[in-house]
Amino acid sequence: MPLARALKIKKLADALGAEALNVNLANVKEDDFKIIRDSLHDNGVLVVRNQALKPAEQTAFTRKFGEIQYHINDEYKMPGNPEILILSTELDAEGNNVGIPDAGSDWHSDHSYVDVPTAYTFLQSVILPKVGGDTQWIGMVAAYEALSTEIKDRIDGLVGIHSFNRFRNSRMTRLDRHGDGEAYYSKRSPPDAFHPIVRTHPHTGKRALFISPRFTLGIKNMDDKEAQPLLDHLFEHLIDERFIYHHKWQKGDLVIWDNRQTLHLALGGVKLPEVRRMHRSTVVGEIPV
Ligand code: OGA
Ligand code: MN
Repeated sequence: MPLARALKIKKLADALGAEALNVNLANVKEDDFKIIRDSLHDNGVLVVRNQALKPAEQTAFTRKFGEIQYHINDEYKMPGNPEILILSTELDAEGNNVGIPDAGSDWHSDHSYVDVPTAYTFLQSVILPKVGGDTQWIGMVAAYEALSTEIKDRIDGLVGIHSFNRFRNSRMTRLDRHGDGEAYYSKRSPPDAFHPIVRTHPHTGKRALFISPRFTLGIKNMDDKEAQPLLDHLFEHLIDERFIYHHKWQKGDLVIWDNRQTLHLALGGVKLPEVRRMHRSTVVGEIPV
C-alpha cells in the first residue's frame, strides 16, 4: 500500500505566510495539528491547499483551536450552522445578499472592537471569481520591529481606542451599502474597546503592533491633535510592501490567520455575475497585553 504523503509546510513570502500541503483538515492527526498550529504562529498566515470541508467539518476543526467567536452580525450566519459566517457576492431570487458582500474592505484585525478580540480566523473558498477577490495580510511583528527606537519608546504603554462605528472614524470617508449608515452603526457598535498599541503574542512572546485604520479611532488619554498624527505615521509605516503577503485564492484554499500578529484587507473588485463565496469561522483569543 502506498504511504500517504506527509504534511509539508512551505514559506510563501519573506514577511509572512506559508502553505500547508498533503493534509485533510476534516480528519487531521494530532501530530499534524500541532505542526499546523506552530506554523501558523511562526508565519502569521497559513494557506491550507485542497480542502473541501463541510460546514460541520470546518466548525470541528476550528474548535480544536479554542472557543468559537460568534459574529455580532446575525444576518449572515449560515442557517443551521451559526458558527459559520457566509461572505458572498451572490444575491437570492429577491435580490437580497446571501452573505456579507464587502467584509474586510479596510485594513483590520478581526473583532478588535471588543474586549476579547479574535485569535484565529478560518476562511475557506467555496466559489471563486475569475477576476478580483484577492486578500492581503500585513505582518505586524515585522512592522513593529522596523520602527525607529524613538517611535518604539513613544508608543510603549499607549492604549488604542477601538470601535466598530465607522461614522466615528475620520479615516473612513467612503460611504457604504448601509442606507442610513449612522443609525446602523450606532445600533450595532459595542462599547469602545481599549487595547495596548503594542501587544505581546501569548505563544511566541513576540511584540506586534495592534492598531488598524478601520477600528482604531484614537489613543486613550491623548488629545487628537497629538494622537491622530501619531496614528497616521504608524499606518503609513505599516502599510508597506515589505510587510505584505498578497494572496490570490485557488480552488480548495482554506486560509487561517493569526489576528494577534497580522492585519488583513479584502481587495474586492468582483463583478456580477461572477461570484465569490467564502465560509468563515473564528476563535476567541484573550485580552491583549
Ligand atoms: C474576514 C475578512 C477578507 C476577505 O473574513 O474577516 O476580512 O478577503 N475577509 O474575504
Ligand atoms: Mn476580517
